[in-house]
Amino acid sequence: MARILITSALPYINGIKHLGNLVGSLLPSDAYARYMRLRGHDVMHICATDEHGTPAELAAAKAGKPVEQFCADMFETQKALGEGFRLSFDHFGRSSGPRNHALTQHFAGKLFEAGLIEEVMEKQVYSNTDGRYLPDRYIEGTCPNCGSENARGDQCENCTKQLDPTDLINPRSAISGSTDLEVRETKHLYLRQSKLRDRLRDWINTKTDWPILTTSIAKKWLDDGDGLQDRGITRDLDWGIPVKKGDADWPGMEGKVFYVWFDAPIEYIAATAEWADAHGKPDADWRRWWREDEGADDVKYVQFMAKDNVPFHTLSFPVTIMGSGEPWKLVDHLKAFNWLTYEGGKFSTSSQRGIFMDQALDLLPSDYWRWWLLSNAPESSDSDFTWSAFQSGCNKDLNDVLGNFVSRVTKFCRSKFGEVVPSGGTPGEEEAALIAELDTRLAAYGAAMEAIEVRKAAAELRGIWVAGNEYLQRAAPWAAFKTDPDQAAMVIRTALNLMALYATVSKPFIPDASAAISESLDWDGEWPASAAEALNALPEGHKFTVPENLFRKIDDNEREAWDAKFSGTSAT
Ligand code: 2FM
Ligand code: ZN
Repeated sequence: MARILITSALPYINGIKHLGNLVGSLLPSDAYARYMRLRGHDVMHICATDEHGTPAELAAAKAGKPVEQFCADMFETQKALGEGFRLSFDHFGRSSGPRNHALTQHFAGKLFEAGLIEEVMEKQVYSNTDGRYLPDRYIEGTCPNCGSENARGDQCENCTKQLDPTDLINPRSAISGSTDLEVRETKHLYLRQSKLRDRLRDWINTKTDWPILTTSIAKKWLDDGDGLQDRGITRDLDWGIPVKKGDADWPGMEGKVFYVWFDAPIEYIAATAEWADAHGKPDADWRRWWREDEGADDVKYVQFMAKDNVPFHTLSFPVTIMGSGEPWKLVDHLKAFNWLTYEGGKFSTSSQRGIFMDQALDLLPSDYWRWWLLSNAPESSDSDFTWSAFQSGCNKDLNDVLGNFVSRVTKFCRSKFGEVVPSGGTPGEEEAALIAELDTRLAAYGAAMEAIEVRKAAAELRGIWVAGNEYLQRAAPWAAFKTDPDQAAMVIRTALNLMALYATVSKPFIPDASAAISESLDWDGEWPASAAEALNALPEGHKFTVPENLFRKIDDNEREAWDAKFSGTSAT
C-alpha cells in the first residue's frame, strides 16, 4: 500500500468555475484519487478556495459585498458544487483560514533567515483618481512582450508572461479606467528566486517521467533570462495574510499583505492541517503527509493543474519549499492540462459564454459531465466542447453501451430466472475469449491511470463496457433460452458479474452510476485480481433488483436549446 498525496489547483474565489476549470484539474485529480483508493492505497486528496488577491476584491466589489462575506459565501457555493460533481476531497479548505496565515508567515520567516527575502524600495503604481495603489489586476495595459492590449499587472494571459504593474505600456486603472496614474516608492519584499536557479534546474532534470508539457514550460522559464526574476511577494492591499516573520512583526511592512501567489500553494499544506483540525486529529497526522522527517519520506505527491499554473508550481512554490531549509515535501509528479474551448472559442466568465458548474448540474447529473469531460480531457492538446460531441458521446457510451447492457441483462434475467443470479451451464470458448480481452483491457486501464493518461484510461474503460455488449450480442441468451436454458443462465450469470465488474472499475469516472449498479446488485467489490475472478464474484442464487435506467438519451431538441442558451449572445 502506497501513500499518495494529491492536490488539485485551488479554484479562485472570484466566481463559479466553468467546465474548463473543472476538467483542467478538479475532475482528473478526483478520478486519480478515486482510482488510487480503489487500488487500496492510502490517499490524501486536498483542495481549497484561493481567496486572496485582487480578483477576490474586484469580484466582491462587483457583488456589492464586503470581501470577507463574499469569500465566505462563494466558498460555500464552490464547496457545494464540488460535492455536486462528486469531487472526493478529503478536505476542501480556504486559503484565508488561520492555518494558512500561520504557515505562510512561517515560510516567510524561514526564507528571510535563509537570505532569500530582500526588502526593497519599490516603484508602485498609484491611482490619483482611485486614491489607492493598483497592484496586479487593478491595472491593465499593453503587454511589453507580445503587444496584447489586455495584459494585467500580474500576468499577460495572451503570452503567459509574468509581469509587474510598471512593465505595462499605456497603463490604466481596472477600477475606474483612469490613466491619471503615478509611480510612488514603497517598501516591499522580494523572493530571490534566482538564487535557487541551479537547484531548481537540477531538480527539474530529475523529473524525466514528467509530461513534456510540464517540463518544457518549467525549462523555458528557467532558461529564459528573466523567467526566474526575483518576485515581489507583498502587496498594498487590506485583504490577505498580514506580512510577518513567523509570529513576529515585520518592521516597515505594517498594513501590507502577502501576494496571493505566495500564500495560495502553501494552502495545500494548510488545508491538510485543516483536515486534521476538522477531524480532531493531532498535528502529527497532517505532518506525516508533508514533512519528510515526520513520515512523509514515503509519500508520493501528485499535483493537478492547468498549464498556466505550471511556472508557479515548478519554480515559485518549490523555491518556497527548498528555500525554507526545512524538509517539506516537494511535488513528485505534476500533471498539467491544456485548454478546453467552447464551440471553437473561449469560455468567458464576463460574457457568460460556455457552461458553468452550477448550470451544468441543472441540466444533467454529474456523471454525464464527468464522463464526457474526462474522456475528452485536453491532455496532449486543447480540446473543444461542442454540444453535438457531448450529445453523441453521452448517448453512445453511457446510454447505448453501459446503460442498455445493465437494463437488458437485469430485465431479461428477471423475466426468465427471477431476480437472482441463475445457476446452470458451463462457461465455454466465448467466455474464455471475453476473459482474455478483459484481462488485457483491465491491465491497460490500470496502466493508463497509473500514468495519469486520462483519455486513454477512459478509452480502455469504454472498451471494457463494449466488450460486455459484444459478448452479450454474440452469446444471445434470448435465443439460447428457447433451446438451452442452462446455456442462457450461464451467459446471464456471466453478464451479471460483468455488471459487478463495471460497478467497481467505473467508480473513478462515473461514481453515481457505479453506486447505482452496486446497489442493484447489493454488492461492492474491490479491484479484481483477474477477469476470471471478477466473473465469479457473484455467487449463484445471489439476489439483485432491476435498477432504474442509469442514463437517458440527450435528444436533438434539448441539444439545440442548450446550444442557443449558452452561446453567450443572449442577455443572461
Ligand atoms: O489559476 C488559478 O485558478 C489559481 N487560483 C490556482 C492556484 S493553485 C495553488 F497554487 F494554489
Ligand atoms: Zn503578452
